[in-house]
Amino acid sequence: MRSTDVTALLTWQAEVRQLAAERDAVVLAHNYMSPEIQDVAHHVGDSLALSRIAAQTGASTIVFCGVHFMAETAKILSPDKTVLVPTAQAGCSLADTIDAAQLRAWKAEHPGSVVVAYVNTSAAVKAESDICCTSANAVQVVESVPADTPVLFLPDQFLGAHVRRRTGRTNLHVWFGECHVHAGISPADVRAQVGRHPDAELLVHPECGCATSVLWLAGEGDLPVGRTRILSTGGMVAAATTMTAKTALVATEIGMLHQLRKVNQSTEFLPMNPQASCRYMKMTTPELLLRALREGRDEITVDADVAARARRAVERMISIGNPGGGE
Ligand code: 13P
Ligand code: SF4
Repeated sequence: MRSTDVTALLTWQAEVRQLAAERDAVVLAHNYMSPEIQDVAHHVGDSLALSRIAAQTGASTIVFCGVHFMAETAKILSPDKTVLVPTAQAGCSLADTIDAAQLRAWKAEHPGSVVVAYVNTSAAVKAESDICCTSANAVQVVESVPADTPVLFLPDQFLGAHVRRRTGRTNLHVWFGECHVHAGISPADVRAQVGRHPDAELLVHPECGCATSVLWLAGEGDLPVGRTRILSTGGMVAAATTMTAKTALVATEIGMLHQLRKVNQSTEFLPMNPQASCRYMKMTTPELLLRALREGRDEITVDADVAARARRAVERMISIGNPGGGE
């Protein structure tokens, strides 16, 4: 980095921290944010860890550097706080695969079921759900439902398949949604990268299109079972801190590599698919973070009735599972 670039970065960082202090704001950043946003934030983590911080913070304003549903979840948990997102345009293709009317129709087809909604959903969908989960605690959340009660799991089909595999549940109905970024990490990417790096450890997010085939290949002996782990983004950071492998292949959004490389400088972390970039996550730029802090925008609002109904499901989510973010 040139010295003028370093000076500009330091000036920007100082301004962000100064404005945050003046606003009594805490800046949270998801693991997929660009490196400069991660480095200036007060806390970096996965969806579950950031939800917990949002619920407990003493700050009067939360600036959520992530996508819309994450900031909305923070507002649901802390209705009296001001919650800002650098751009409200930052959506999520997975959250868009189901709306409240579709969920009501699905529930009507399966009376008596418990609805488990991944946190990547709108507030209106959460309000129709019994309990939320993230990739860090999806298995434990589903295990908390009595074994003989059918579960409607939404909206991610690959996470749903992972949960079904881990729990052995046959009464788990899964919505057919997917995230365009993770669905795009294919079994062919895995075969090609493992072929190039046969000794690498594999860190795979359960939303990935390759997650099922990775486990199948591991079962067939084509991939190293002991070196293949299915983890949330927070679980990946926890795994990286103690990793001794020379190389690790990472199947998730490429923003993840920054935290992994920070916590472990002796392992080389490589993307399973270098094109796996979420355009929504990358909408948060240094300029928009400054705008959020200077102008107090974009402010998140959630209808009070929807928020009250969604809160029960989200509060149950944050009470279940490993605070470290792994399974
Ligand atoms: P995590 O909950 O693992 O951080 O994942 C969030 C997400 O949006 C995955 O695409
Ligand atoms: Fe949504 Fe996929 Fe982006 Fe995560 S990576 S925010 S699931 S579109």
